[in-house]
Amino acid sequence: MNDQLKNNTNSDDLNKSAFKLIYQLLLLNVLLILIIIVFAIYFLLANNSNTNTENLPSVESAVVLNNTTESKPVENFWTAPSIEEIKDTEQKKLIEYGKEIIAHTSVYFGAKGTVNANATNGMNCQNCHLDAGTKVFGNNYSAVASTYPKFRARSGSTENIYKRVNDCFERSLNGKALDTSAKEMQAIVAYINFLGKDVAKGEKPKGVGFKDLAFLDRAIDPTKGKVVYDQKCVSCHQTTGEGLLTEDKTAFVYPPLWGKNSYNDGAGLYRMSNFAKYVKYNMPLGVNHENTQLSDEEAWDVAAFVNSQSRPKKNIKKDWPNIAEKPFDHPFGPYADGFTEKEHKYGPYKPIKTKLEQLKKSSTQTPKNT
Ligand code: HEC
Ligand code: HEC
Repeated sequence: MNDQLKNNTNSDDLNKSAFKLIYQLLLLNVLLILIIIVFAIYFLLANNSNTNTENLPSVESAVVLNNTTESKPVENFWTAPSIEEIKDTEQKKLIEYGKEIIAHTSVYFGAKGTVNANATNGMNCQNCHLDAGTKVFGNNYSAVASTYPKFRARSGSTENIYKRVNDCFERSLNGKALDTSAKEMQAIVAYINFLGKDVAKGEKPKGVGFKDLAFLDRAIDPTKGKVVYDQKCVSCHQTTGEGLLTEDKTAFVYPPLWGKNSYNDGAGLYRMSNFAKYVKYNMPLGVNHENTQLSDEEAWDVAAFVNSQSRPKKNIKKDWPNIAEKPFDHPFGPYADGFTEKEHKYGPYKPIKTKLEQLKKSSTQTPKNT
């Protein structure tokens, strides 16, 4: 009986402890489930924030965003004044005529020119002075009114704007100089003066002329330049390099780069540095200084190729009367620096530049009368 009781209490105890065990197991389970849920929530959240970062702009687009929202320090490039604002109607008409001649020079002075037929090679001033001489780093006229008259080493004399305009008529347009009093010359100069009217005397606004281009460490190479030409220029300037005329032959759709209707060897573009800078920041048509297509090497090499083709010659014996003033890339001797014509034409330019600077220093250090 006692045993029975004992047994009973024993089984009771057993029951109790089994119950306890199940209870504990359950608790553990609940705890485990809780932990799992907590982890699950944690991972879910973590994942969520991952997808969130994926939705954020990538590094590249962030740069773009930065550019548009934070706007970099404003660069004050020159912009042309508006002709519309001219009050004096006579003056306005003259300036508009000047702009028209710059843009469509061939209509007035080309093969069928209405003012003087065959006075030029048929090119327009605007072919090289883009957007009628108003494009930033497109050889614009912003600093002409403010810096002329000025001494120019090429002629060894002080030149006024008329002389400078005629320089381009005789060299870039391989044509005849205009009479200073001619209505067309008056109009051109009025327009150029108007463009520069807000520029202080002696100042050169930002974006004038051409943008600088670093020298290559080697000589520039016409063979490599031909590859560039065939890939990136030939579609407009043609395999002959002679450009493309309109059907009625009054103007070039695409101006010539060499041949009988191109600029002559006394022109500004015949200097490799001018050509390379013009092309780097303006060609193929449509590019600008903020959005270029050619590498520096391509720009220099295509200059070497184009400027080694045949073109009209100008008698330039009187140019650079002081030979020490000849630019590093002037391709005609004699020179003061000991380099050859070929070296001056194709480079490498760095050693020539260095030598020219040394010569300049020593000539300014030695008193003239010793
Ligand atoms: C084939 C290209 C070409 C054509 C066409 C051309 N020019 Fe030029 N012009 C140049 C170059 C290059 C320079 C700069 C030369 C230099 O600095 O060595 C220049 C310089 C000038 C300048 C001086 C600019 C300054 O800031 O000093 C004036 C003015 C000018 N040209 C007017 C004209 C006019 C007007 C015409 C049309 C009758 C014309 N050009 C046609 C290439 C051309
Ligand atoms: C899509 C057509 C097109 C392509 C491609 C093109 N150009 Fe031009 N280029 C023009 C036009 C048009 C002008 C005249 C611009 C004007 O009058 O506004 C011009 C003007 C020029 C001029 C000054 C005027 C002259 O005839 O001397 C030079 C130099 C020049 N281009 C060189 C090049 C070079 C080098 C390449 C190749 C890297 C090239 N261009 C590619 C259309 C083109």
